[in-house]
Amino acid sequence: MKNIQLSNTGWEVSNMIMGCMRICQLSKSEAGQLIHTALELGINFFDHADIYGKTECERLFAEAFPMNSDQREKVFIQSKCGIRSGYYDFSKEHILEAVNGILSRLKTSYLDVLLLHRPDALMEPDEIAEAFDHLLLCGKVRAFGVSNFNPMQIELLQRSLPNKLVINQLQFSIAHSLLVDGGIAVNMGIPQSIDRTGSVLDYCRLQNITIQAWSPFQKGFFEGVFLGDKTYAELNVVIDRLAKKYGVTNTAIAVAWITRHPANIQVVLGTTNVQRLRDSCAGSDLALLREEWYEIYKAAGNTIP
Ligand SMILES: NC(=O)c1ccc[n+]([C@@H]2O[C@H](COP(=O)([O-])OP(=O)(O)OC[C@H]3O[C@@H](n4cnc5c(N)ncnc54)[C@H](OP(=O)(O)O)[C@@H]3O)[C@@H](O)[C@H]2O)c1
Repeated sequence: MKNIQLSNTGWEVSNMIMGCMRICQLSKSEAGQLIHTALELGINFFDHADIYGKTECERLFAEAFPMNSDQREKVFIQSKCGIRSGYYDFSKEHILEAVNGILSRLKTSYLDVLLLHRPDALMEPDEIAEAFDHLLLCGKVRAFGVSNFNPMQIELLQRSLPNKLVINQLQFSIAHSLLVDGGIAVNMGIPQSIDRTGSVLDYCRLQNITIQAWSPFQKGFFEGVFLGDKTYAELNVVIDRLAKKYGVTNTAIAVAWITRHPANIQVVLGTTNVQRLRDSCAGSDLALLREEWYEIYKAAGNTIP
């Protein structure tokens, strides 16, 4: 397992994250087995959100993995807040209330990282800063980050904060590669050139903000897995050939395509399957050749001008 330094913290964290959005599909013992497999594989970072499983995922995690203080200190637990039913809410009152709920469900006294889940168009940075300040001072959260933010939204929020934001969690996979698309086809008249991200990948590198890639195996917005998908026939031929070359599964190659990027991206794995978790981790430290990375990108239907 490859470890990276989490930006602006000095913490050594695994570049694979166990994403917990789907764990409430599992029984308590299955969830426990998945978590323990993750730990055995060297994963020390777990991603939650207050809304996953309508709060049940956090609850199940704590039941399946009751931690004493020694175990708690060895892992990094992150959760998110700010999405409510039909709207976003970054008010101080909601952030504080959400964190209390998260901590009680996870049965822990602190979160390592709290992310604001999706940008609230009505966000007031000074109010968020007050909430963060309170959470930091009372020891409930150690560090803060965002998710699905563009650079200007980060700038706007950061201006009110005394400490640097450490993470921006964004969707990124071979089949959802908008983070690199615009940069590869700058200033061309093709759809790939349209910058839908505000160059957030380059911005986060410049600001030393760690990117976490969610939905590493999904096409579109939860439209299914691209591995083995006939509409990605050319891509799958390339991936399968490279899997054979490196002696790993296609799952590992999909992960390696993300970890090959020099931004030191953490991959948020959503699998609930123990074997797929093992297969994914084989991509943690697999360094694809530069030409292989581009071949995969092209086979996914993208242009390399
Ligand atoms: N910040 C955000 O806005 C945001 C949004 C969404 C998710 N997230 C985070 O990111 C994590 C990952 O998201 P995700 O679950 O959508 O990502 P994912 O890992 O791309 O997708 C996982 C799903 O794909 C299935 N799958 C993966 N490979 C497969 C294959 N080869 N064949 C068949 N099925 C396969 C898994 O089934 P099995 O369980 O059977 O393996 C599971 O249902 C979440 O847990 C959450 O922590 C964050």
